[in-house]
Amino acid sequence: MNTAVLFDRYGAPDALYATDVPIPAPGPGEVVVRYTAIGVNPIDWKILNGGLRAHIPMELPGGCLGVEAAGVVVDVGAGVRRFRVGDPVIRHGRPGAYREYEAVPASQEADELTPQSGRFSAEQAAVLPVAAGTAYSALRQVGLRAGERLLVHGASGGVGLATVQLALLMGAEEVVGTASAHHHDLLRRLGVTPVEYGDGLLERLEELGPFGASVDCAGGSQPTGVAVRLVSIPERRVTVADLQARARGVPFLDHVPLELASTLDLIGHSPFELPIAARFPLAKAGEALELGMRGGVGGKIVLLPGQ
Ligand SMILES: NC(=O)c1ccc[n+]([C@@H]2O[C@H](COP(=O)([O-])OP(=O)(O)OC[C@H]3O[C@@H](n4cnc5c(N)ncnc54)[C@H](OP(=O)(O)O)[C@@H]3O)[C@@H](O)[C@H]2O)c1
Repeated sequence: MNTAVLFDRYGAPDALYATDVPIPAPGPGEVVVRYTAIGVNPIDWKILNGGLRAHIPMELPGGCLGVEAAGVVVDVGAGVRRFRVGDPVIRHGRPGAYREYEAVPASQEADELTPQSGRFSAEQAAVLPVAAGTAYSALRQVGLRAGERLLVHGASGGVGLATVQLALLMGAEEVVGTASAHHHDLLRRLGVTPVEYGDGLLERLEELGPFGASVDCAGGSQPTGVAVRLVSIPERRVTVADLQARARGVPFLDHVPLELASTLDLIGHSPFELPIAARFPLAKAGEALELGMRGGVGGKIVLLPGQ
């Protein structure tokens, strides 16, 4: 039995339904992976509501969300040398991972599967690609240097939590992160100086600056305005969340190729962790998306197949 969560029309999370589909056989150059955990991301509901259809068109009916997951190789197709049955892997990239079993291209060039040494739990591995990959790209884009002070907007979200931890690993002297007050303890535990966003943010941050660079993981006019005021060099600002910010002086993220393997090397022997804020059985993916869309989760949401 292979549970898949699909949708036939663009819409709200209630458009998702769980169904049984055959377990695929691997084609040449493919492996079949059984997922043990699947990451939920804002891009999932942005695809589902049709907002990204110009960039990421879905074949409907029978569309499948999910751009990251972790699991184990259970079947290997002809010509595959890179993986063997039993290997733990991380799957990332195109949507389609809201399912229990999937046939995935195995080559390095296809760049959809990364081996993982087993250093990460399945849940951690499943939520690393988007958050850690985006954080890594953002910090490279602003050219973070050891000894600098960094400002991160939206520090308590998935990408924000990865960004603050990577920045500290890369030698930032101090990371100041904006978040709502009930996430400040979490940020303090990670070594971040938390600041509440909202009225008076610029004044609160001016007391803590100057900042060498800023990463906006929230989007919206306040993070953009503050970044422009507090970081003088435009190239040292980036937003991962707000396409409109470019016109106001904050460049949008230019993804470097995922570089997941480098990111895993960097964080693999550190205490880096993305807190898992909520777990749902795969078949309840709609409820998971509703929670994510409401916001304020303070960590990652995972789907667990086989529950
Ligand atoms: N360009 C890319 O490749 C890329 C990749 C990944 C994600 N993204 C985008 O980046 C954004 C964040 O993704 P995510 O997975 O981190 O989402 P998330 O886990 O939902 O986190 C969003 C965070 O934003 C915070 N927030 C909301 N309004 C804020 C404000 N005005 N100022 C500061 N923080 C605010 C919230 O903090 P509190 O809960 O503490 O209020 C929340 O923790 C999304 O828009 C996503 O689509 C882009």
